[in-house]
Amino acid sequence: MDLVKVPSAERLGVMFVDLDGAAGSIDSWLAPLRALIGQDFAIDAVVAARDADGTALIEERTVRANWKTYQENASINVLHESFTHELYHKSPEVPRIASGKPKFTNHLDGSLVAFSYADEDTANTYERLPLPHAGLAPDRPPRRGYFATLYPNINVPTHSVFVKVNLCVPMAPAESRLHHLFFFRPEAVTRPDFNAIERHLRESFHQVYGEDKVAIEAVQKARASPVARQHFYAPLWDAQHHRFNQLVLDDLERP
Ligand SMILES: [Fe+2]
Repeated sequence: MDLVKVPSAERLGVMFVDLDGAAGSIDSWLAPLRALIGQDFAIDAVVAARDADGTALIEERTVRANWKTYQENASINVLHESFTHELYHKSPEVPRIASGKPKFTNHLDGSLVAFSYADEDTANTYERLPLPHAGLAPDRPPRRGYFATLYPNINVPTHSVFVKVNLCVPMAPAESRLHHLFFFRPEAVTRPDFNAIERHLRESFHQVYGEDKVAIEAVQKARASPVARQHFYAPLWDAQHHRFNQLVLDDLERP
């Protein structure tokens, strides 16, 4: 028999496959992400959103950009929110600065590139959904929300009632395929109004992803311009962009 054993493991609702067997421990790689969002979210208790037939509600979309251009945007420059997204443009709480001080915290730890914010600082930005929160216990709602990426290509936004897992899969030098799935507490997905609320949530993300797509595809085109070689980073706003590009460089320069 010529069958070769390929290590695999399921974590966060995703099946990870280690094709060359050299990836190392999946749990070591995921540890910084777990440590961060696990402070507020029941990441091992949440379950995937499914339709009435039990099919996971995975959404896919294509962005005409290299995966690194997509992931650079996902390693968020918080300032971009106000001029790229209608949701944030309308919000009095954006760009997440008060009295000259940031109201967000960057978390740069190994492969983790993320920021967090206090839930109470987004009361006028994000809609409150009528579902049980995804906190650690019924009396422990999440105090913070997160936009986390795990290098190279996993993105996990969380807020109040959901944990969302997005995978960015390279398809061609200038094409990436995105796979999205929401996770909720088990008691949320059994409610009769769950599918309507989940659909509403997905539609609100449609708009945000559409706005990001315009910006990301424009950045991809602009890579051909000599201006792209300036490599300028603002210390506050571009900390995550800078970190992501350092991780790419580390990979390129690895012997
Ligand atoms: Fe965005």
